[in-house]
Amino acid sequence: MNGNNKKTVLSGIQPSGHLCIGNYLGAIRNWVALQDSHNCIFLVVDLHALTVRQVPSELRNRCLSFVAQYMACGIDPEKSLIVIQSHVSQHAELHWILNTLTYMGELNRMTQFKDKAGKHEDNINAGLFTYPVLMAADILIYQADLVPVGHDQKQHLELARNIAQRFNTRYSETFIVPDGLIPKVGARIMSLQAPERKMSKSDENLNNLIALLDPPDVIVRKIKRAVTDSGSEILFDEKRPGITNLLNIYLSLSGQTKEAVEEHFIGKQYSELKSELSERVVEFLKPIQRQYSELMQDKAYLNSILKKGADTARYLAQKTISKVYRKVGFVPYKR
Ligand code: TRP
Repeated sequence: MNGNNKKTVLSGIQPSGHLCIGNYLGAIRNWVALQDSHNCIFLVVDLHALTVRQVPSELRNRCLSFVAQYMACGIDPEKSLIVIQSHVSQHAELHWILNTLTYMGELNRMTQFKDKAGKHEDNINAGLFTYPVLMAADILIYQADLVPVGHDQKQHLELARNIAQRFNTRYSETFIVPDGLIPKVGARIMSLQAPERKMSKSDENLNNLIALLDPPDVIVRKIKRAVTDSGSEILFDEKRPGITNLLNIYLSLSGQTKEAVEEHFIGKQYSELKSELSERVVEFLKPIQRQYSELMQDKAYLNSILKKGADTARYLAQKTISKVYRKVGFVPYKR
């Protein structure tokens, strides 16, 4: 790590809800592809998860489960660092410093804060408000060059860039100003019941998402219930978001072209698309689920991966925080 001239890639997912095929096709699949050409760090951002109420035992299990799912999807701990955010205290340390460089007005403009505040009216805590600053700390602490993010995180990434530039201007060049890596391929996977919205791992209605760990009968049932549109032709058509979403999932898993997929379904019925799609999804998830089960039975191995990830990440993060503390004028700790 860092002993080469590869660029550093950093990304993370909040451990809430159920990792779903939207996460895989929109993010994790792209992470897997970056592992050889980049120094990659993939986080499970448990500090972020506390911005909504959590059941402690469930949070703990979910974090480990997410780590195992990253690995089952192809994140290779020999190539990449897999890190639980709370294992590296420098994230929180940098978060504080960056908070003092972020304006209330900037955070007030964050659309995700407004969304989330609307959804959790009984728990609009300060953490929810400064959430994007912690995300900036996640990125800047490792001097990441590239940050794969979905559309919904572009505003947060822009804030991270602004904060980095502000620090650099005020205290001299310190942080790499990261670029977003918005995937070229990979369609946005939408909710099965409400295809005008993104498929979300935290959706309360589980029929809206296909979880990576859903058993075959559940997948078949969810796809059967997915909304389709009026008309009967099976074509990619923006005006028919339901059918287009199912086709996009099929397309992403088949590796064919749009034209080939449309051709394949000429003259077929929605029910045939749904059953073929279910089969594809089930087959695709089978090896992932098998590997996941094996990993979850070997907690000692998982913990060793996390230890290695945290040890290397701490080393990198400490280099940055030491520099930052010196630049802002803190008294150095001398042994
Ligand atoms: N906020 C991101 C999300 O909700 C998760 C996240 C936290 C993240 N820290 C990050 C993503 C750093 C990329 C880089 O999806």
